Amino acid sequence: ANTDGDALRTPIVAVLGHVDHGKTTLLDRIRGSAVQEGEAGAITQHIGATAVPLETVSEMAGALVDPSDFDLPGLLFIDTPGHHSFSTLRARGGALADIAVLVVDVNDGFQPQTEEAIDILRRTGTPFVVAANKIDTTPGWNPQEDVPIQQSLEAQSDRAESRLNENLYELVGDLSDAGFSADFYWRVQDFQKNVGVVPLSAMTGEGVPDLLTVLMGLSQRYLKGEMAVDATGPGKGTVLEVKEERGFGATLDVVLYDGVIRIGETIVVGGQNEPIVTEVRALLQPRPNAEIRAEKRFETVEEVAAAAGVKIAAPDLDEAMAGAPVRVVRDRDVDEVVAEVREELAEIEVETAEDGVVVKADTLGSLEAMANALAEAEIPILRAEVGDVAPRDVAVAETANEEKYRVILGFNVDTLSNAERELESSEVRLFSDDVIYQLVEEYEEHVAELER
Ligand code: GTP
Ligand code: NA
Ligand code: MG
Repeated sequence: ANTDGDALRTPIVAVLGHVDHGKTTLLDRIRGSAVQEGEAGAITQHIGATAVPLETVSEMAGALVDPSDFDLPGLLFIDTPGHHSFSTLRARGGALADIAVLVVDVNDGFQPQTEEAIDILRRTGTPFVVAANKIDTTPGWNPQEDVPIQQSLEAQSDRAESRLNENLYELVGDLSDAGFSADFYWRVQDFQKNVGVVPLSAMTGEGVPDLLTVLMGLSQRYLKGEMAVDATGPGKGTVLEVKEERGFGATLDVVLYDGVIRIGETIVVGGQNEPIVTEVRALLQPRPNAEIRAEKRFETVEEVAAAAGVKIAAPDLDEAMAGAPVRVVRDRDVDEVVAEVREELAEIEVETAEDGVVVKADTLGSLEAMANALAEAEIPILRAEVGDVAPRDVAVAETANEEKYRVILGFNVDTLSNAERELESSEVRLFSDDVIYQLVEEYEEHVAELER
């Protein structure tokens, strides 16, 4: 730390993977184990994120981590629900996450959302490690709470260990098919060339010390340069979700990746039509040991510094978009910041054609990912927008000239009930899915059917 505001911020770690492969359980375990280690106060729960300071990582990793080897402050983990595309986690020019943990159920192996996550990691060039989770479900496993993986393996029968190895080799094979050379993490010399696989159990905690060690080591070695920030500058963040909260109206769940945000400050947020200029009324964090009554779930804080998850309450946020940028104006000209936000949104504007399909997606990032997938499949887009399927979308899809384009492709969105009625009385077909390539496949099958 020094006086002019320069500091090393906490690396942002996205935890992603297929539904039910154990992302949330892994974070719960990290929190729970920290409590056992007497580090309860140290772990902080943020909106959509968990901050684990270096001291806690070191406590949990035991002999694997010597805190004096590090000067990054810790790790900020972002949990991404499996049904929700990881592509929301975007920031100017690429990924919001500095590093990622791809959680894969060691018995299930690669699944559709694993493939999708890998695609995005590849596209954004995000370094990642694989958590080969649920090793405790290996037949004949002898669980060893919270120990490093080598210690656990020593306690296993040859039979159990070789069963686990079979699954792990299959996973290494899947990664290789996806274009990544991978190996057990302890054999990896150069983490920029090879993906490390960490066998672990989010349930018993074995192997979790290893994961924390690898993440801390990778961050320190490869990310340190990027973590130097102006710690007190105007905040920059990305909207994860737009949510109604009782007493606050529409609020933003934001990951702040640079600078500071304070109550009362003017912010600019990417909106459906125009950038929204508004003033921060409240900054909210989950209350420790949250009381059950809804209105007591949050406590307000005066300011938040990067990297952190925070809920922002402000007027006029209804049209804010998940995946959009948030900027604190501070002592700059508002118009300048609005232009900056507009420019950033323009980066992800989708190329449209005279004739084509209508696309709806839940976030800007997923809209961008959909547009990429459709471009690859040479499917033109008439209109693409963030939001649920509305009657207007049906009307737009009806204007398509070719029958095969009279469709709406909905990714991770709902259909408003009045739109459902419109759909019934029109020839427009709606396809919806929460896996992009499946959605594209469904559409392609539909076209093949029409041409038959
Ligand atoms: P989504 O958020 O829905 O995508 O799922 P998730 O990836 O967060 O998975 P979650 O943590 O909710 O775990 C799914 C189920 O797997 C739960 O029943 C967990 O108890 C179980 N589970 C997670 N990790 C382990 C593990 O290491 N071992 C065993 N035996 N079960 C696990
Ligand atoms: Na789950
Ligand atoms: Mg979860």
